[in-house]
Amino acid sequence: MNRKDDHIKGALNQSFKVNTFDEVRFLHEPLSATALNDVDTSVTCFNQAFSMPIYINAMTGGSIQGFEVNKRLAMLAKHFNLPLALGSIKAGLHSQRWAESFKIAREIYPEGFIMANMGGENDLYTARRAVELIDASLLQIHLNPVQELIMPEGDRDFNKISENIQQIGASLDVPVVVKEVGFGMTRETLEKLKGLGITHVDLSGRGGTNFASIENMRRTQPIDYLDDWGQSTVESLLEASNVEGLTIMASGGVRHPLDVIKALRLGASMVGMSGYFLKLVHHYTHEEAITQFNAFITDMKRLMALLGANTVDSLRTKPIVLSQNLVNYVQFRNLKGIL
Ligand SMILES: Cc1cc2nc3c(=O)[nH]c(=O)nc-3n(C[C@H](O)[C@H](O)[C@H](O)COP(=O)(O)O)c2cc1C
Repeated sequence: MNRKDDHIKGALNQSFKVNTFDEVRFLHEPLSATALNDVDTSVTCFNQAFSMPIYINAMTGGSIQGFEVNKRLAMLAKHFNLPLALGSIKAGLHSQRWAESFKIAREIYPEGFIMANMGGENDLYTARRAVELIDASLLQIHLNPVQELIMPEGDRDFNKISENIQQIGASLDVPVVVKEVGFGMTRETLEKLKGLGITHVDLSGRGGTNFASIENMRRTQPIDYLDDWGQSTVESLLEASNVEGLTIMASGGVRHPLDVIKALRLGASMVGMSGYFLKLVHHYTHEEAITQFNAFITDMKRLMALLGANTVDSLRTKPIVLSQNLVNYVQFRNLKGIL
């Protein structure tokens, strides 16, 4: 089976045990609720207005199934006017056949905010070709050393990545986001990225799709003690709140509207979901997926009304409490930021 299809299958079959979003609680204030109709979920990011703070995060392309998934994701993104990131584009740059599995998204969603995605091992020349192939609005550069090292056929040399990021960030005509793929980031990583000239980061932390366990399923000798590697998305957000001057996107283990608003409260400008949208387009027809996601949006507005937050900015002022585990993490890492 094609590796991209293994990833889709692995992600669809994963079940999640621990999710640190459950360790963050909003405080209930019965007198603060506002009118549902007054809730405005719009945000501005990359100098552009979006009606919702949600994007479909990078997944696939480079296989027949990848073509179908990208087609369905693009139809859904178009219906809701959501930003859409496609999967790592390398296969599409090497084969005309697989190029189509990425270009289909632009054909379906010509007006859309579509993001290209490639690994940090690729240089500026490749970055330009990636953007050109799908007329991308933005380029995501992914960092995935855990995945690569577990993957039998993965990369083993990460020395060029910082240099590539710096060159691409300085020279590309579209905005650049550096992202993880589900293992999160620290304050130190974020400071380094800032030093490389990067201004937008997608933390993509632990809690959802787990590429250590997906790659371990593809190995004859699993390195399964790495399945819990990395910082959760909440921990990564707490880390990020101690770094100034970056626009933070949050993804990794976002399951429902409450996770979305917790991520926004903890400092995310926008919130990405991959596993959620993959399941939506895999298990449901287009019409059913629209119904499901409409309910998701309404529920997100309900939660904002309950908290008395008419806007995403006012949501960020609402009081929260953290579990003892997270308080320990904050103290041990000497994080202050938003708390
Ligand atoms: C099937 C699948 C394939 C993925 N492929 C990529 C990829 O090519 N590039 C990338 O940056 N991230 C990739 N990811 C990682 C996601 O963008 C995201 O960072 C991660 O899944 C955590 O989000 P989630 O818990 O909402 O799934 C993939 C995720 C899934 C589910």
